[in-house]
Amino acid sequence: MGVIGYGYWGPNLVRNLYEIPSSDLIAVADLKEERIKRAQLKYPQITLTKNYQDLFAMDLDAVVISTPPKTHYPIAKECLQNNLHVLVEKPMTLNGQHAEELVELASKNNLRLMVGHTFEYNSAVHALKKYIDSGELGDIYYVHAARLNLGLFQQDSNVLWDLAPHDISILLYLLDQVPTSVSTHGMSCVFDDNYDVAYMHLTFSNSINAVIHVSWLDPSKVRKVTVVGSKKMAVYDDMDNEGKIKLFDKGVDGAPPYNTNGFGEFHVNYRSGDIIIPKINYVEPLRAECEHFMDCVENQVEPESCGHSGLRVIKVLEAANQSMINGAKKEVIQW
Ligand SMILES: NC(=O)c1ccc[n+]([C@@H]2O[C@H](COP(=O)([O-])OP(=O)(O)OC[C@H]3O[C@@H](n4cnc5c(N)ncnc54)[C@H](O)[C@@H]3O)[C@@H](O)[C@H]2O)c1
Repeated sequence: MGVIGYGYWGPNLVRNLYEIPSSDLIAVADLKEERIKRAQLKYPQITLTKNYQDLFAMDLDAVVISTPPKTHYPIAKECLQNNLHVLVEKPMTLNGQHAEELVELASKNNLRLMVGHTFEYNSAVHALKKYIDSGELGDIYYVHAARLNLGLFQQDSNVLWDLAPHDISILLYLLDQVPTSVSTHGMSCVFDDNYDVAYMHLTFSNSINAVIHVSWLDPSKVRKVTVVGSKKMAVYDDMDNEGKIKLFDKGVDGAPPYNTNGFGEFHVNYRSGDIIIPKINYVEPLRAECEHFMDCVENQVEPESCGHSGLRVIKVLEAANQSMINGAKKEVIQW
């Protein structure tokens, strides 16, 4: 294994790959001397280089790419051309055409292409999906996802491309379907020419709606997904260490026909029952993701968050970004 990019996120990938028994981490590449020195202190036995192309002569099986998003396409393409299986961080690329090219190249060369949609390897997200799939929540009315904090402002992408890949991948995973249209309202609060706050509204074919709110400009760190169904409601709060998943037996029972004619006739039966906090067997999601990549490479199986799933997320992002530029104009997503 080799890792390209040892900035903020790369060290987490390196730590996991170093610890997983089935993985043999050989090399790390980063353009910056300071990052190389940092890696050297921690992993003196690993080959370190400033030039990721050096990895092509090391007889590696696979690489993990954790460089800035604009570099994903050229680096991943070159790695696939050099017969390496690739795990590339999110967002897979910055446009759909590049994502399609990578998917085709991986398929042509019979290589695994996986995208770092970390939350698809999160046991709390798995538990939430179980509640949806089992019908416990009833028909799903809507999903609301919020990913907010103060920063980290990125130079080469807006808040949508930086934060929303996670929520889009969670949504597609939870609902097992793709949205038909999207409308996004964006704000550029701090810098004139870059969006730092965005509200996406996604519509799915079976009348499920979803809202994704992402922000680099919020006083509190929020990582929350709320799913509201006809029977029950569930909340996944990644910041709540004592109850990441809460199942609320809350709702409205037997709503009568909506009648605005007579005062006093309008009556709603609210139900507010138990709140259940299921036990989640927590495994570091990134560890599970890295192990899954190793398994897929070894056993030649398609990863859960494969290139196709990366491409779906990019198509949603592309449409959402277009809508944001056009002042929240509704965009139909072409599948
Ligand atoms: N899955 C997650 O939860 C998660 C979390 C954070 C970041 N990320 C993703 O990880 C990626 C990296 O993000 P980051 O915050 O670590 O960025 P960063 O800027 O902190 O680090 C990127 C590193 O890549 C290096 N680099 C750039 N071009 C290179 C090249 N051509 N060859 C070798 N090294 C090169 C830089 O020197 C830098 O050290 C991004 O795609 C980001 O979206 C994912």
